[in-house]
Amino acid sequence: MKKSILILTALFAFAAQAEDVKVGHGIQDSPEYIAPAFHSAPKESGLAPLNYVNQPPMVPHATKNYQVTKNINQCLTCHSPEASRVTGATRISPTHFMDRDGNIIGGTSPRRYFCLQCHVSQSDVEPIVQNEFKPMAGFGK
Ligand code: HEC
Ligand code: HEC
Repeated sequence: MKKSILILTALFAFAAQAEDVKVGHGIQDSPEYIAPAFHSAPKESGLAPLNYVNQPPMVPHATKNYQVTKNINQCLTCHSPEASRVTGATRISPTHFMDRDGNIIGGTSPRRYFCLQCHVSQSDVEPIVQNEFKPMAGFGK
């Protein structure tokens, strides 16, 4: 109980600091309300440099029309260890076979099934919200 009160207090203190963030006035006040302009990701874009250790690498090819559903995962038809030998696609790494307790399981872990949750392709567009993230020393361009 005491612990959760402490955490709550810490959360409120943090929230009070983040004054710049406008909330509670409806979605139309938020920058995310502006839909990004439609664009097609380039078919091939070359491997983007990583920005930090253990970053999910960005997808260097278009992902349009690749289905990831309950019945089929088209990413795995090229990226699974078996398929990668034939397709030349980078094989998914061992972490993709780990459950949340760190045990290696037989197939792709459910938490690594929806590839696009972590791996995205890149397009040269104006970001809706500017990002000032700087890569770690020795990473990035
Ligand atoms: C038709 C085969 C094919 C399909 C389907 C495919 N990929 Fe790929 N993918 C490749 C190949 C080949 C490469 C290697 C390209 C290179 O090295 O330049 C690659 C590279 C990648 C990389 C970069 C890996 C690295 O080495 O850093 C990621 C991430 C990736 N794909 C994710 C995906 C995701 C997510 C999907 C599904 C939405 C997908 N791919 C579907 C063939 C495929
Ligand atoms: C929860 C986030 C997450 C999901 C979901 C996920 N990945 Fe990854 N992926 C990562 C991270 C983080 C790395 C880099 C570190 C590592 O290997 O764990 C990575 C690495 C990779 C690599 C590069 C491996 C290498 O040896 O360089 C490929 C290819 C890849 N993922 C493909 C996929 C495919 C295909 C799927 C869907 C079946 C997928 N990933 C789902 C987070 C994710």
